[in-house]
Amino acid sequence: MQESDWKSVLDAASTAALEYLGSLPDRPVFPTADHATIRAALDHPPTARGVDAVRVVDELARDLEPYVAAQASGRYFGYVVGGLHPAALGADLLLTAWDQNASLYPSTPGVSVAEELAAEWLVDLLGLPGESSVGFVTGGQMATFTCLAAARHQVLRDVGWNVEADGLAGAPRITVVVKSGAHSTVLRALRFLGLGERALVTVECDDEDNMRPDALEKVLASVHGPTMIVVECGNVNTGSFDDFAAVADLAEAHRAAGNPTWVHVDGAVMLLAAAAPAMAARTAGLDRLDSWSTDGHKLLNVSYDCGIAICANASAHRAAMSVQAAYLEQGEGGRDPMDWGPDFSRRARGVGVYATLRALGRDGVAGLVERTIGLARRFADQLGASGQAEIVNDVVSNQVLVRWLAPDGDHGRLADAVMAGVRAEGKAFFSGTTYRGERLMRISVSDWASDEADVDQAVEALLRHARLAV
Ligand SMILES: Cc1ncc(COP(=O)(O)O)c(C=O)c1O
Repeated sequence: MQESDWKSVLDAASTAALEYLGSLPDRPVFPTADHATIRAALDHPPTARGVDAVRVVDELARDLEPYVAAQASGRYFGYVVGGLHPAALGADLLLTAWDQNASLYPSTPGVSVAEELAAEWLVDLLGLPGESSVGFVTGGQMATFTCLAAARHQVLRDVGWNVEADGLAGAPRITVVVKSGAHSTVLRALRFLGLGERALVTVECDDEDNMRPDALEKVLASVHGPTMIVVECGNVNTGSFDDFAAVADLAEAHRAAGNPTWVHVDGAVMLLAAAAPAMAARTAGLDRLDSWSTDGHKLLNVSYDCGIAICANASAHRAAMSVQAAYLEQGEGGRDPMDWGPDFSRRARGVGVYATLRALGRDGVAGLVERTIGLARRFADQLGASGQAEIVNDVVSNQVLVRWLAPDGDHGRLADAVMAGVRAEGKAFFSGTTYRGERLMRISVSDWASDEADVDQAVEALLRHARLAV
């Protein structure tokens, strides 16, 4: 391909991307077209001779862009979806142009070093143990899987069992202690690891979905042998934080009583809070635990996809993940990224983290945490004061649970009607949840681009649709 051809493709893509990004403040947040319409727009099967690349890019932009959800618009408050920091966008474009397979240092040293630095900066920023290892993976799901694989390695190794060599058949039993309502990705990771959902013991939570330390203490008293405990830094519904210092004390006592113990933190939603001085009381004790999973693509606003697995015990992390092959040049000159996650060939996802951390700076990361929490409180204050809704959770981070008050008492139906109305209008996007048996609306503020005007616009639309729907 000629330089001029690359330029034509990049020009086509960057023109379309710029138009899209320019439209974000005003475009509908969610497309209204149905599945058949989207298929019809995109259904151009490969021809025998193919199509010129520039034309493909032009037509892709024309055919697909109307149907993307404006997740980086500042007005997408559904699930826990991060926006897109400009530095992350730039880094991602370069990474695509460079097309690096970031498995091994000897195969591509530059991106390996960028990931090594991003890992060190992140560990430092979060105040985690300096010797911690980091794997950049696809998301919170695979980060949790990676950390729990390291946990499985270590708690079995401590009783003389080599799970990587001998598997789980005949292995000492591992008890996995989770909180009630643990995120589905934790249960799925346990499935992937062959531990099964029956290995679970569930600990009761308090009103804000925090694991009750007294209940954990009681559970641990009846658990003997290898033990994995999973806690949360930012609950998907309430945004709340477990009591990490209390959990660390209990884990230490359990370990001292002769039980190999590993505590993992699912920090997909709010591990970044550890970088915000204002959140120090909530995150106290985090650094005394064993592993932490989080997402670059959520609050840090790195482009999709990017998950981060961090382990205090680097050798357990590496033992669980690394693999040797005769044709690979491994361990020569620098960090081999494939040692720290389940992928073999892989994208250098840590480069987006490198760029975003540099662009935000330490104060910027803390500010992102504090600003999104402030906006969540703004939502809660305005909706709570309206008389049309109640705030169900104590808003301690960037997640809000809303009960829409229906005069006929069918609050769940009203929540669904309000969300559907706002979505169809395109002003904002919210998603729901069933929390303690009740259908509610969730709000997640995870986009650096969201501001007070976005919240106020969204609140206006929500209240209007609530009035229409009753
Ligand atoms: C608490 C929690 N853990 C894990 C995940 C999974 O993260 P990912 O979607 O990046 O795999 C989520 C996603 O929202 C989450 O909220």
